[in-house]
Amino acid sequence: MRCPKTVLLLLPLALADPSPLPGHSMSSPPEINHLAKTWLLTGTTMPSHNSLILTPGVADRVGTAFSRTPLRTNDFEVEFTISAKPGTAVFENDGVAFWYSEENSTEILVAASAKHSHNQDELIAGTWYDHYVQQGLGLYGFKSAFKGLGVFFSRNAGAATVGLKFGDGSGASEGPEQQLEIRDGKDHSVKLRVQPEAATLQVDAVTLTLAKPAKAGGFMGFSCYGGSKASYNPKERSAFVEIKGVKVMNYASGPGEDTLPSAAEPEASKEKEDVLGAHSSFKDHREESEAIKELTNMVFKLVIESKPQREQMKAAISALSKRVSVVEESFTTLKKEIDMKTGHNLGEEFESIKKELADMHAAAHRDTDARGKKLADLHSDIEHVQKTAATGGDISGDLDSLSRSNEQVLDELTSQHKRMFGVSIFAIAFIIIAGLSLYNKFRCWEKKHVL
Ligand SMILES: *[C@@H]1O[C@H](CO)[C@@H](O)[C@H](O)[C@H]1NC(C)=O
Repeated sequence: MRCPKTVLLLLPLALADPSPLPGHSMSSPPEINHLAKTWLLTGTTMPSHNSLILTPGVADRVGTAFSRTPLRTNDFEVEFTISAKPGTAVFENDGVAFWYSEENSTEILVAASAKHSHNQDELIAGTWYDHYVQQGLGLYGFKSAFKGLGVFFSRNAGAATVGLKFGDGSGASEGPEQQLEIRDGKDHSVKLRVQPEAATLQVDAVTLTLAKPAKAGGFMGFSCYGGSKASYNPKERSAFVEIKGVKVMNYASGPGEDTLPSAAEPEASKEKEDVLGAHSSFKDHREESEAIKELTNMVFKLVIESKPQREQMKAAISALSKRVSVVEESFTTLKKEIDMKTGHNLGEEFESIKKELADMHAAAHRDTDARGKKLADLHSDIEHVQKTAATGGDISGDLDSLSRSNEQVLDELTSQHKRMFGVSIFAIAFIIIAGLSLYNKFRCWEKKHVL
């Protein structure tokens, strides 16, 4: 008998089941096309292959991700997973916020970034965030005087907190706050239940409630600021913050969001758009501008993210040049010292050695040249002979000249030989005559009885 009763009791509850709002939800990892269509990302925010990264840990920079369309309900629940790895240094005023803004966030952020976020001079001068704050976007990159609800993961005087606040647009906000550190590298599940007259936040074991009204038609999104420091090494990183999936459920009976443009488009307007788009003479031009816009955003992101690396490189280069000049200095001193000790002027000696080496090199070069020339001559001779032979021409001329030169050499050799022969005959005759005269002399002395 108890069973049918339970079913009857559950029936009305089952009818009021919350319905998902896909236009405001985000899968994990984010689906890029869906993300591009329904979310507006600015600054350091970028999708990765496993999450939506709000900031890769760049200090003094802002990243935002806001839904492009308003929620058409004030009775809903947002559930998301946030993960933050601690940075390598503690930066002041860094933090992450979830917003349910009564004001059009796209309008606010587009105006700010059009005027501002591409300003290279400000980026270089380091005054970028100051200007952002001056535009009233000093609360983690979104409106300081916000209108609606905000969930803040902040750090006040070293203590990390989570707060649920209501802002009326005057700049003042109120709501509960409790200590909680999410920058521990772990996943934290966040659940925000918004009702027409109250809101409840649950993060880990912390539950915060706020008795303030919420209006339908608000814009939801995230913003994040990397924090600042009076002076910091560009190597230092602030917290790395990512969102792993967003799920929005509508508890009201009506539709909770506008239908997605691509989901159900009327036939007529589709045709019109096709005609305009496909046949416009500006079609290519339009596509080009879209591509350029995309590229600009990409470049901007790159500029922001590569700034720490560039600073690091600059520091390394200046340190290196300093070191080089120190080495140069000590080398000069060392040279002077050696000169003094040895009494030689090493510099001059070195110069002379260098000169000698240069001379040697020149001489070798000349020899090589001469040899090369000879080889070239020989080569051209051979070539000439080859050519004559190849063209079937008479090479007897060449042979003749060769035999002539041979003859000359032979003649020379013969005449030299003759000369040598004459000389030797003369020498023999001289020796014989000398011998005879000597013999004669001996004979004379013998006769005179000298011996
Ligand atoms: C919000 O602002 C954007 C940019 O100005 C605009 O295109 C969009 O229609 C606005 N949305 C609503 C609901 O007013």
